[in-house]
Amino acid sequence: MKNNRIAAIDVGTTKICTIMAEVDENGLPTVLGVGVVPSNGLHKGMVADFKDAKESIQLSVMKAEQAAGYKMESACVGITGKHISSVNNHGVVSITHARKIVHPGDLERVLKIARDIELPQGREILHVIPRSYALDGQTGINSPVGMHANRLDAETNIITAASTSVQNLAKCVRSSGVKVEDIVLEPLASAEAVLTEEEKQDGSILLDIGGGTTDVVVFQNGSAYYAFVLPVSGYHITRDVSIAAGISFDLAEEIKIKYGNVIPFSGSLPDKKDIVMGEFSISHDNLTKIISTRLEELLRLVMIELSEINFPNVASLNMVLSGGSANIPGLAELAVSTTRLPARIGYPFRLPGVSDALSNPMHATGVGLLLWKLINDEKQSRNANYISRLMGRNI
Ligand SMILES: Nc1ncnc2c1ncn2[C@@H]1O[C@H](COP(=O)(O)OP(=O)(O)OP(=O)(O)O)[C@@H](O)[C@H]1O
Ligand SMILES: [Mg+2]
Repeated sequence: MKNNRIAAIDVGTTKICTIMAEVDENGLPTVLGVGVVPSNGLHKGMVADFKDAKESIQLSVMKAEQAAGYKMESACVGITGKHISSVNNHGVVSITHARKIVHPGDLERVLKIARDIELPQGREILHVIPRSYALDGQTGINSPVGMHANRLDAETNIITAASTSVQNLAKCVRSSGVKVEDIVLEPLASAEAVLTEEEKQDGSILLDIGGGTTDVVVFQNGSAYYAFVLPVSGYHITRDVSIAAGISFDLAEEIKIKYGNVIPFSGSLPDKKDIVMGEFSISHDNLTKIISTRLEELLRLVMIELSEINFPNVASLNMVLSGGSANIPGLAELAVSTTRLPARIGYPFRLPGVSDALSNPMHATGVGLLLWKLINDEKQSRNANYISRLMGRNI
């Protein structure tokens, strides 16, 4: 088999990240080109100005193409925004073959029923994720094919999006000269880049805190249980700093990135002094308080949402934090003290090739889109050992 080329475009509110890779005959990727540029024309994760967004995507694609040395034909693209919603659904079928063995066709039938939800006008299904199966009432079965039963139940998580948002994004990418291969919910992609298989199995919650949205996905028993998007993120932190200090947004952003942290002042640090930028000043203490207040509120909102969906095992979840705002020093500790869950920062798995620029948590979505494509293509070809082989190569 000849080497295959794949690509991913993370269309974020603050940056666009394009990654081009070649996949060898064993299905393993090597990154050949990366293009990261600031994004214009996006608001809270969604396309707000078509022309600006298209130009940013074009620039990012061009940069990646220059590095890779070939033209990109198609890409896997991420979507987010508060129009995303997630519902759990259920399907059931009888197994009628003579020997009562579950066939792949039965799985298809039950999933077809489990994806049959009433869609309000203007919405479309992005993903139908099988969460678990039950055979004759015995729950928690991951792969029922080949087992005996009279009845097969499937639990699914269905992720839907506003059709206009999907179409605007797809049109934007297409008009920049790239065919859209898949549109993937961004936190599902980020999860592929930062969560280990154990974390997905044991239960974990991933927060990708970007520039326009915080994208959340909850994993249990190896698959996505629930996903949601909150319209609060790094932008709000910067705005808080700018209002509190009476300075411009751009200056507040600069101060946040240079000095921002959520580690409480210990009294013995030489940090007590004010931060002075031109004519303006703000104390380290104040800056820390402003940033911690907003992030604590965000973490609480996530926990409220979890309690509203009645997630059964909140206390057993591991929290993983990615997105550009996960660079704020002390965030993992703040997450532990606010939510009482163990927490860590999610750095994307390292891919072979020219991927040094992708090690920041802000690139979890870009790297994850590429992996999502690989993992899902392999799942379809039923190559069960694929993920362990991928991990064995220390990505
Ligand atoms: N070192 C840093 N300290 C604090 N904040 C940072 C740092 N680096 C990046 N950020 C913040 O991260 C945010 C951008 O994150 P990211 O690149 O993940 O967002 P995005 O993907 O463009 O947006 P979204 O996913 O929300 O549409 C900005 O608000 C930026 O201020
Ligand atoms: Mg993002």
